[in-house]
Amino acid sequence: MNDDLKEQLKAHAGLAALYEQAVAEIGQAATSAELEEARVRHLGRKSGLSQLLRSIPELPAEERPVVGKYGNRARTALEQALAARKHELEAGELTRRLAAEQADITLPGEPFPRGHLHLITQTQWEIEDFFAGLGYRIAEGPEVETSYYNFTALNTPEGHPARSLHDTFFIQDKPDVLLRTHTSPVQIRVMEKEDPPVYVIIPGRVYRRDSDATHTPMFHQVEGLAVDEHITMADLKGTLEAFAKHMFGAGREIRLRPHYFPFTEPSVEVDVSCMICGGAGCRSCKHSGWLEILGAGMVDPNVFGFVDYEPDEVTGFAFGMGVERIAMLKHGITDLRMFYDNDMRFINQF
Ligand code: DAH
Repeated sequence: MNDDLKEQLKAHAGLAALYEQAVAEIGQAATSAELEEARVRHLGRKSGLSQLLRSIPELPAEERPVVGKYGNRARTALEQALAARKHELEAGELTRRLAAEQADITLPGEPFPRGHLHLITQTQWEIEDFFAGLGYRIAEGPEVETSYYNFTALNTPEGHPARSLHDTFFIQDKPDVLLRTHTSPVQIRVMEKEDPPVYVIIPGRVYRRDSDATHTPMFHQVEGLAVDEHITMADLKGTLEAFAKHMFGAGREIRLRPHYFPFTEPSVEVDVSCMICGGAGCRSCKHSGWLEILGAGMVDPNVFGFVDYEPDEVTGFAFGMGVERIAMLKHGITDLRMFYDNDMRFINQF
């Protein structure tokens, strides 16, 4: 058909030239973009062919029927040539893309590193789990605390020497607002809200103005509080002994040493028999055979007074421990700051 058309177009030299030129450029277009340029050039509104077709009324009389008849055929033929070339080019482009983007499915995959909990979180959860198993509930409280909860209601009135033992961060311009120095204020918040019996475990961050190999300005504590009828110091000792065996091994023993805390009476510090030398004495336990792990005691009746508990009806024990310290003892870590350096060679050991 195109050969026929070629013959027919000889009747009009201008039309023939436009057609030949368009066919050539469509055939030469090497990409879809070049083809589109050729389309605009030869079939667009401003193309020679379109202009010629529009100008029919002004043509000399003998040219009009020729251009009218063959001009539109030429246009149709060019549109078909364009569509055919477009199809060819797209097929080629797809083939090339498929070849270029071929994936080698036999290559080994890139390993995706899997994270894990920080040792502090692991240790905190292990402590929580132990007490949850005894029926304790987890309670939490604010890290920005008032001096009432942090000190006063814990039987540490203003001017009490124990206040100055804590290197407290105060919130600027607000002497009554501070970063809690321990998790003990949450004892008060729990007892204000709930009647006995109370068995709670209180994990959280605490803050002190301290920084060296064994102190960081922020660290973690886990607090415990048990208030019920007939709670005695034997309950405290049995509970903490079971805890020490769970945490440090079945062979561990504990001992209670008299101590002082404002909110417990009597108060004790609790040691665990050294897990490194088994109690015989070594460098870790400074040859004493014992390692201090926590503070504890029987809740002072004055504290019950602040929360309207009846000291004649209930008694209780409380304890508080540093999570970092427990983790250091358990894993033989000697510098507390290692926990917060974020050195993956350290972190990934646990
Ligand atoms: N709050 C104390 C501290 O930060 C630890 C403590 C000692 C908590 C005795 C207690 C306790 O609940 O009974 O050093």
